[in-house]
Amino acid sequence: MPIYRFLRPLFFALPPETAHAAALAGLEAAWRMGLLRPPSGGEPVEVMGLRFPNRIGLAAGMDKDARHVDAWGGLGFGCVEVGTVTPRPQPGNPRPRLFRLPAAGALINRMGFNNEGAVAAASRLARRKFRGIVGVNIGKNAATPAERATDDYLEAMKAVYAVADYIAVNISSPNTAGLRDLQSASALDALLNALTTERDRLTAVHGRSVPLAVKLAPDLDAEALAAAARTLSAHAIAGVIATNTTTDRTAVAGLPHANEQGGLSGAPLREQSTRMLAALRELLPPRIALIGVGGIFSALDAQEKLRAGADLVQVYTGLVYRGPGLVRELVAGLAE
Ligand SMILES: Cc1cc2nc3c(=O)[nH]c(=O)nc-3n(C[C@H](O)[C@H](O)[C@H](O)COP(=O)(O)O)c2cc1C
Repeated sequence: MPIYRFLRPLFFALPPETAHAAALAGLEAAWRMGLLRPPSGGEPVEVMGLRFPNRIGLAAGMDKDARHVDAWGGLGFGCVEVGTVTPRPQPGNPRPRLFRLPAAGALINRMGFNNEGAVAAASRLARRKFRGIVGVNIGKNAATPAERATDDYLEAMKAVYAVADYIAVNISSPNTAGLRDLQSASALDALLNALTTERDRLTAVHGRSVPLAVKLAPDLDAEALAAAARTLSAHAIAGVIATNTTTDRTAVAGLPHANEQGGLSGAPLREQSTRMLAALRELLPPRIALIGVGGIFSALDAQEKLRAGADLVQVYTGLVYRGPGLVRELVAGLAE
């Protein structure tokens, strides 16, 4: 969509969060007016026991409250991951909390799970027409003490279970205090015990087993990653999403906004994230699928993730810099 070449300077003249809202309103309007024609020719794949119309997904955080799922489908996404949603609504961190680093093709965000709550997202998802896969990414409320984190994940899972094709367990956002500590082997083991047990109970209630995927941070060192992988392998989870944003600023040192607190996404994250994906493919059994996310700006970047072991890919920051035409390019580029 070459039109994005003209739109981008207009969006980039606005504060990032204003631009985000304007872009999503524009997308929704275009969808309602019938202006979106999803690309044809995507190759369906079966991953986590689900049939994805193509391998391209929208990463979590872009549509936290599941407001535009049908419109994302109109752009060509085979999968939309909504959320992160928490059990109770919460406003997130004070603004400004989203920053562009255009010279690096990057963003830094410390949104802090601003969302209307799991129940609101679930009721929107129940009305969707989108025929692709919808994942719901769940997290804990900021006000919930660390020792009660599991209760929040359980409550969010219950709220979205009936409307989710898969559930992504977010233990890797840098913007909720203590969240990433849940990646340690003992905390992860306890969390996954609780979630898989509750999932089995919900399977009986709903007559459907919803696969669980765990989303990891790219900042785990080799030892922590190996320990996390051992724990993940010991549980009935279907997938791992690699990765979330990074707290490392080496790649953007000296650039305006580089020292803002939060998670860095986009081009500077790509290699770090792909390395971790490749390491996970070695560490995890083949039954656990991998979703590669981090710095995908082109079909070549996406192919690199697949070569590193990803079964599916997701994009966020690439969409901000390259526009909606990126989806078409990825669908075509991965079907080759
Ligand atoms: C503004 C913003 C908000 C995000 N919010 C979430 C979120 O709520 N939950 C989550 O799991 N990941 C969130 N992410 C991380 C993305 O889903 C993705 O993992 C990360 O940005 C790396 O991909 P990218 O380089 O394509 O952006 C967010 C990213 C950005 C830029």
